[in-house]
Amino acid sequence: MSDNPIIVLGIETSCDETAAAVVCLLPDGNVKVLSNVIYTQSSEHEGYGGVVPELAARAHVERADKITGMALEEAGIDDVHELNGVAATSGPGLIGGVMVGMMTAKAIALSNDIPFIPVNHLEGHALSTLLTETVSFPYLLLLVSGGHTQLLLVKDIGCYQRLGTTIDDAAGEAFDKTAKLLGLGQPGGPRVEKTAIDGNDQKYSFPRPLLKRDDCDFSFSGLKTALRLAAENTAPLSSQDKADLTASFQLAVARHLCAKTMKAMEVAEPEGVNTLVVAGGVAANGLIRSTLRSATEELGWKLVVPPLEFCTDNGAMIALAGAKKIERFGIPNQAETLQMAPRARWPLDDTPNGARHGGGKKGPKA
Ligand code: KG4
Ligand code: ZN
Repeated sequence: MSDNPIIVLGIETSCDETAAAVVCLLPDGNVKVLSNVIYTQSSEHEGYGGVVPELAARAHVERADKITGMALEEAGIDDVHELNGVAATSGPGLIGGVMVGMMTAKAIALSNDIPFIPVNHLEGHALSTLLTETVSFPYLLLLVSGGHTQLLLVKDIGCYQRLGTTIDDAAGEAFDKTAKLLGLGQPGGPRVEKTAIDGNDQKYSFPRPLLKRDDCDFSFSGLKTALRLAAENTAPLSSQDKADLTASFQLAVARHLCAKTMKAMEVAEPEGVNTLVVAGGVAANGLIRSTLRSATEELGWKLVVPPLEFCTDNGAMIALAGAKKIERFGIPNQAETLQMAPRARWPLDDTPNGARHGGGKKGPKA
């Protein structure tokens, strides 16, 4: 533990959020988020049914400097030398976007002789709960977003074990594709959840993916196909049909996420783990939260869901990961970090098949 606060600027540009934040890690382990600026590129990608990598990269180029400046100003950083480091997502993600964030951070670091800290985006998510909660290691992380669906054992800073991942689509991607198919608009998750409110979740019986497999992997493409076939067989769709379809789909997703998470809990419990942290945009879903809450309560586990602004992509989680790395491992070798190239794929652990990961909609991730 350091005797002085560690103040880090974090830049996140791996998908469709241009984000920057300044975080102060105090010697007692408490964290102060001094600023957290996020620009979400929804209008740039509207009408395309997903994120267009080239458009995303251009939008990051246009905004990265301004967003970074706003984050420094809001944090009251008048002189960048007050920073102990500049961290940036260096992968996995859409390569054009990752390049923009890294170049912005490297430029600030190099021109002011401040350490540059490359951060794995997944590590940012893995540690994001520490922005607002005191959670001790080890804990189990369910990361569910538009680009990732993974179960990770977070053992310590820099020490992660992947227990499961999606073998096809990510959970958020499945929500987005469902919304697209039913003409509900984007982002799909909130639209699907809203449409499902008046639906009968027992109307359609969707498959329970990978039920017979005794592992912690996920699959959503079968559900997506089942939903498409059910919609085609029912067409023309009334608003009640859409409500029933989305309610049945949402229930199937919640059950699948919960079943595989419970498997991971079985694996993790003997290692002394009894806390489940859920991160990623899909954690906003009420049914998924309540299903996970019941499961954790039943097994005597604690459930932690960070505030939504830190669940979805943000600069604060990248800044905190950078600060934690400095605290644990010291100042990184600047010559080495400045040499580091952006990575479209970057698994967090050495699990065989580490490159296998969901996220078709948003391009290659870990
Ligand atoms: O973490 P996030 O903001 O961005 C990345 O994908 O990195 O997650 C966005 C994903 C989208 O796929 C969106 O449809 C989904 O989270 N999402 C939801 C809900 N709110 C957002 N999915 C289900 N229910 C929601 N209420
Ligand atoms: Zn993310």
